[in-house]
Amino acid sequence: MSEEAQVELEARLAEQEEFEPSAEFVEQANVSDPEIYDEFEENWPECWERAADLIDWDDDYDTVLDDSNPPFYEWFTGGKLNASYNCLDRHVENGDKNRVAIKWEGEHGTTRTYTYQDLYREVNEFAAALRELGVEEDDVVTLYMPMIPELPIAMLACARIGAPHSVVFAGFSAEALATRMNSANSEFLVTCDGYYRRGDPLDHLDKANEGLDGVDHGVEATVVVDRLGDDGFGHDLRGNQHGWDDLLADHTGDRVDPVQRDAEDMLFLMYTSGTTGQPKGVKHTTGGYLSYAAWTSHAVLDIEKEDTYWCSADIGWITGHSYIVYGPLALGTTTVMYEGTPDFPNRDRLWEIIEKYSVDIFYTAPTAIRAFMKWGSRFPEQHDLSSLRLLGTVGEPINPRAWKWYYKHIGNEDCPIVDTWWQTETGGMMVTTLPGVGKMKPGSAGPPLPGIDAQIVDTGGKEVEAGRAGYLTVNKPWPGMLRTLYKNDERFVQEYWQEYSDTDSDDSDDWVYFPEDGAKVDDDGYITVLGRVDDVINVSGHRLGTMEIESAIVGVEGVAEAAVVGANHDLKGEAVYAYVITEDGHDGDDDLRGRIIEGVEDAIGPIARPEEVVFTPELPKTRSGKIMRRLLEDVANGDELGNTSTLRNPDVVEDIQQKVQQQQRT
Ligand code: PRX
Repeated sequence: MSEEAQVELEARLAEQEEFEPSAEFVEQANVSDPEIYDEFEENWPECWERAADLIDWDDDYDTVLDDSNPPFYEWFTGGKLNASYNCLDRHVENGDKNRVAIKWEGEHGTTRTYTYQDLYREVNEFAAALRELGVEEDDVVTLYMPMIPELPIAMLACARIGAPHSVVFAGFSAEALATRMNSANSEFLVTCDGYYRRGDPLDHLDKANEGLDGVDHGVEATVVVDRLGDDGFGHDLRGNQHGWDDLLADHTGDRVDPVQRDAEDMLFLMYTSGTTGQPKGVKHTTGGYLSYAAWTSHAVLDIEKEDTYWCSADIGWITGHSYIVYGPLALGTTTVMYEGTPDFPNRDRLWEIIEKYSVDIFYTAPTAIRAFMKWGSRFPEQHDLSSLRLLGTVGEPINPRAWKWYYKHIGNEDCPIVDTWWQTETGGMMVTTLPGVGKMKPGSAGPPLPGIDAQIVDTGGKEVEAGRAGYLTVNKPWPGMLRTLYKNDERFVQEYWQEYSDTDSDDSDDWVYFPEDGAKVDDDGYITVLGRVDDVINVSGHRLGTMEIESAIVGVEGVAEAAVVGANHDLKGEAVYAYVITEDGHDGDDDLRGRIIEGVEDAIGPIARPEEVVFTPELPKTRSGKIMRRLLEDVANGDELGNTSTLRNPDVVEDIQQKVQQQQRT
């Protein structure tokens, strides 16, 4: 492109705030009729049968929605099905056994390809192995694994025998693993010896073993995948630990009938951060979740089984569950899995993979897009990305500049972008454009999906005017919703429903789900999500509880008190700022700073590592003793300070401000 044309294009993009999908895209889209919004509204909740129709049921359900006991909703009650059958057997039986299910790209460029038949075989063998180890229906199996094919295989094997899985992100610490196994009373673990990061082998079993040592109940068995081979760390397996390959060898050719699960039986648990220090075990069930993951994969990601689809998230988070594993495999498509990071060995790695596999649909996070922008367009320009048809983003707000960069440099102005707002709790996408229907507005996720009733309200629950900031709420249940917090119905009601519902009512209309996000809506109904309004921060698309980090910090010797806030960060979206008061007799020096960072990494993992540790003699507190976090955020962001008049100790803020400025300069 000539320089002149380039300048002209930049100017046009800067002004153009609305983008339309091309006629070519619309013509081939799975959903292209705008009537779908009205159809879903007029025919609610039966409209959700369209989602249920995308999967196979052993027994039909009798009721689409049972809302007799809000907020404990049930979907597709009476239906029986198996998620593993839906992701495997039916494709094998329907003539697609040789279609590629998973294309796995290892960090070193080694690859593995699993057809649906291959995946079916290995899932069956591993399901047989799990049974032999004593796993019974409804036992929670913890999977502490990185991005290797054995992870989705283990998930589907669990689903096959009706054992809910609880995947713990491999980057989490030993302590985080133990907390989650304890909470779920999980007696089985699948893990691996290690994996590769930026070329080096990383010891994972050591961390897993340390986690196991912290489990407060008996652990029946652990399965260990040998990922590193000769690069391994020479661990000897413990008495109740079994090698994955040995187990499979013992079960070669075994077949396990998929267990019939009730629609409302638990498919998996996923722990996520909330306001308190304790992570929440979000419970997803079989029928509603799988239908919803399949439906949104079909309607929003526009997946066809002939496609090669790639979501670059980690399966350790909900995005990977819904949109690497369950949604795409239920639809019988080819899903790409990548083990490594986007900049190894070079900054063009992702684009190389897209070219190599002729990827049709690519789904990633704004934090990654901001890094790509920083690295520059010359990396994607080295590759032929013309196979792409659709792009997506998830996990945090995307600023219009990053959106436009993605649109132009990755999508060649030819691929619609879906900016999808949702959460661990929602199971699947909630607010986004349908790529074959609506216009796109950079920075705004779009309208609620058909059948989703979302509103922006004020603190009193009244809808706010267009353009004004308020709180996002969801006024009707949906099939992919969490059913409860594991063994904690009370906290479930408290966390998500109390704020805007009439909790004494048994009329479903009086119950409103509160996701704890701020948002605004435009005249055309497009929603811009502004971010969390609780004590949760979003670092590189990873959701972290400030209380969890604070409790790790106060556990460090020499620390008296700590307050953690999220500060704006160019690449990560938000970064962790920790304000720390030392105990008498301890200095706020580099040694303590190092121990604080180590303490956070041990309790949670490197993703929660503080960007800055600021030692201060005092924290800004109201007269009633509450820490004014907003002020601490202002300080970290270098913003003008909000009102300090209600502080018991207004002077302290200036001191902290000076310290932070000094630290930020060095
Ligand atoms: O604040 C919202 C933000 O991520 C939170 C959910 O985090 P988690 O449960 O880890 O799930 C992430 C993947 C679905 C939300 O409460 N968020 C997610 N997607 C968007 C977003 N914020 C703005 N725009 C989005 N598209």
